[in-house]
Amino acid sequence: MSDLVKEIERRRTFAIISHPDAGKTTLTEKFLLYGGAIALAGTVKGKKNSRHAVSDWMEIEKQRGISVTSSVLQFNYNDYCINILDTPGHQDFSEDTYRTLMAADSAVMVIDASKGVENQTRKLFKVCVMRNIPIFTFINKMDRESKNPFDLLDEIEKELGIKTYPVNWPVGSGKEFKGVFDRNKRKMIAFKGNGGQHEAEAVEYSLDDPQLEEIIGTELKNTLSEDIELIEGASEDFNLEAVQKGKLSPVFFGSALTNFGVEPFLEDFLKMTTSPLPRVSDAGEINPFDPDFSAFVFKIQANMNKAHRDRITFLRICSGKFERDMEVLHVQGEKKMKLSQPQQLMAQEREIISEAYAGDIIGVFDPGIFSIGDTICSPNKKFKFAGIPTFAPEHFARVRQKDTLKRKQFVKGTTQIAQEGAIQIFQEPNTGLEEVIVGVVGALQFEVLEYRLKNEYNVDIIRESLPYQYIRWIENEDLDIKTLSLSSETKLVQDFKGNYLLLFASEWNIKWALERNKGLILSEFNKN
Ligand code: G4P
Repeated sequence: MSDLVKEIERRRTFAIISHPDAGKTTLTEKFLLYGGAIALAGTVKGKKNSRHAVSDWMEIEKQRGISVTSSVLQFNYNDYCINILDTPGHQDFSEDTYRTLMAADSAVMVIDASKGVENQTRKLFKVCVMRNIPIFTFINKMDRESKNPFDLLDEIEKELGIKTYPVNWPVGSGKEFKGVFDRNKRKMIAFKGNGGQHEAEAVEYSLDDPQLEEIIGTELKNTLSEDIELIEGASEDFNLEAVQKGKLSPVFFGSALTNFGVEPFLEDFLKMTTSPLPRVSDAGEINPFDPDFSAFVFKIQANMNKAHRDRITFLRICSGKFERDMEVLHVQGEKKMKLSQPQQLMAQEREIISEAYAGDIIGVFDPGIFSIGDTICSPNKKFKFAGIPTFAPEHFARVRQKDTLKRKQFVKGTTQIAQEGAIQIFQEPNTGLEEVIVGVVGALQFEVLEYRLKNEYNVDIIRESLPYQYIRWIENEDLDIKTLSLSSETKLVQDFKGNYLLLFASEWNIKWALERNKGLILSEFNKN
């Protein structure tokens, strides 16, 4: 096997999706602990302060004590090279969160065992399903009072519409959480608590080992035997192909805080998930093992350093090997170039890299030439990757400049910020550019917009919130817009490519529009 193939084969690039507080940060940190990237747990977390360390670049972050941007962590575990894409989830939930999923080859869905499936998980799950990537479930916080594990599986299947396969099964919960039964090994893995700072000590017992009953007690032992019988009778058969196509989610139980079940999860997950997946392009599927380098832009982070007004563009490498100073082709810009200051985030540090492989994420210095979805490839093989869809914003505001003399800066600022993908801008038909409707996925993006227009473009704005919550692209190509019959709580707008869209105040209004306008086709994502 060539070095290139070996390097790509050992890569695992995934995102962790969850509702805020389910334990995504804690689990990520424990992965780093098991990977040896940090020595003691508790160094990444305490996020109010230390999240800064990961991306301490924007004034607004410092003021709010949160991270506005997502980061990427790379570390090694056994023979694997792991890239974890962080999907911001609190108030900083934004379109970036969705776009990050476009760069992942699989997703780990963390669910709080006492809460089950929650809202934000549902939204992120939808995007994963759209891409058919494998989705693994980690049911967290088993050390707290939790819902019945059978009910949790039922909830996932019914609410999300994916089949589940419990790879392991919890033994007890709350204070009585003793560990997990590994269905494949047919052994109970009993953990000993140590406060969670270090790797938890694990001992394996087979079911007929008399010591097992001593450790977990007769009641738990009996419950475990009954549960196993039930799962064996009721659950789906394991099918790796279904897992890798995103049709069956392997489920693991554990507690990220105490490290119970974290390592068994990591090991099985890394084995079951895929190495970098092929990507669709206008020249057919691009094989990750193709030696020619290719990548696409999935994220742009502006103003990392105010003094230089620089931007960092994040590329997901899709095939081959990247070498520093190599010549590449920026397809959309029709330009050959060298990528400047390629860097990678290793745990909390940013470092300049000299090589990277398919599956890796690199950040490059961007003087303002890249847009979300752009393709960068080897000059001898020109093609374009399929674009990144535009996701439906959920908050809308009408925005205009306070000082009409600043029109030029306002237009430049809103257009550039939209081009970076931080906001989406729309217009009511027949209005000028001095007033736009801004749509965002997370409400904080309005503040980011206001802050950046003031600081980078010297423009103060007036922002008026609009009551709309839903947006749909009109898919019909030959529709005469003037014939549409719309309720007073619906607004027709255009995006900057000229596509028509509808803004709705409620789901009821969407139904109304569909009923009144037979043949109208509306879509939640825009793939153009
Ligand atoms: P998030 O990134 O998904 O938002 O969640 P995060 O890991 O920050 O965890 C949210 C809270 O849940 C944290 O407590 C964390 O310590 C706790 N937690 C995470 N995993 C477990 C678990 O397995 N068991 C239990 N019992 N708790 C868990 P916090 O008090 O909000 O934050 P902190 O003050 O500890 O940082």
